[in-house]
Amino acid sequence: MEIFSLTGKRALVTGSSRGLGLEMARALASAGAHVVLNGRYEDTLRAGVAEIEAAGGSASISVFDVSDEAAALGAMDQMAADFGGIDILINNAGIVHRAELKEFTTEDYARVVHTNLTSCFYMARHAAGYMTGQKFGRIINIASVLSVLGRPTVPAYISAKAGLAGLTRGLAVELGPDGVTCNAIAPGYFATELNAALVEDPEFNQFVCDRTPLGRWGDPAELGGAAVFLASPAGAYVNGHLLVIDGGMTVKL
Ligand SMILES: NC(=O)c1ccc[n+]([C@@H]2O[C@H](COP(=O)([O-])OP(=O)(O)OC[C@H]3O[C@@H](n4cnc5c(N)ncnc54)[C@H](OP(=O)(O)O)[C@@H]3O)[C@@H](O)[C@H]2O)c1
Repeated sequence: MEIFSLTGKRALVTGSSRGLGLEMARALASAGAHVVLNGRYEDTLRAGVAEIEAAGGSASISVFDVSDEAAALGAMDQMAADFGGIDILINNAGIVHRAELKEFTTEDYARVVHTNLTSCFYMARHAAGYMTGQKFGRIINIASVLSVLGRPTVPAYISAKAGLAGLTRGLAVELGPDGVTCNAIAPGYFATELNAALVEDPEFNQFVCDRTPLGRWGDPAELGGAAVFLASPAGAYVNGHLLVIDGGMTVKL
């Protein structure tokens, strides 16, 4: 057993057409897993598969919107039928809506919480059906430093990410007896499309660099190793953990 090997494992990474999801998918594939890429648009997913295959990895696509429960669960059943099971689920797809509180509508709040939290609940519940049957599974939820910190203008995102940290603990406790671990990764500020408006804002850019002991934004590729660790034999006894990857931002006073 190689300690970081994922050979023979079948992984689904939601929201992996770009950004952190694509980097984690790349990392899982380079460790030997077959990775199913997910997003809402076939073209971008096919480009991701081509990149992974060009690097010697194995990948396929599953086009669905995580906020559509029937479509998401159906796609997982299809994956299990195609590959004989599901070993690793990374709940990564996520959106952000920014507005001052007085302009933040209840509809926008519900939309963000549904996509960023509720979908993780039903995806994990469904994956657990396969994982507990095979007495092995790894569920990794992509939380945020906003699971434990606060900022103005993103109340729905904060609610969802704090909830996701709680959901992670609940699943870890309930599924552990069946050989399934559930952990969360809490990224700090990574330069992806989700944060494009912030990266382009010189004031915010300066804030991130000043606030982060490493003095810079995270590179999305710097998240891949953590995903491999939590999914691999190296992480077998890690359960219910929130792994913060933020260049030291949250430990700085
Ligand atoms: N970047 C950061 O600094 C940071 C920090 C903390 C946490 N996070 C979390 O990390 C995750 C990924 O963020 P990112 O920065 O990589 O974002 P991103 O660059 O905007 O990518 C988001 C991904 O999610 C997919 N997606 C969005 N809505 C979807 C839906 N309803 N169904 C299926 N796929 C959907 C997008 O694919 P399509 O548009 O092609 O469908 C895309 O692949 C999110 O959960 C985010 O909250 C990010």
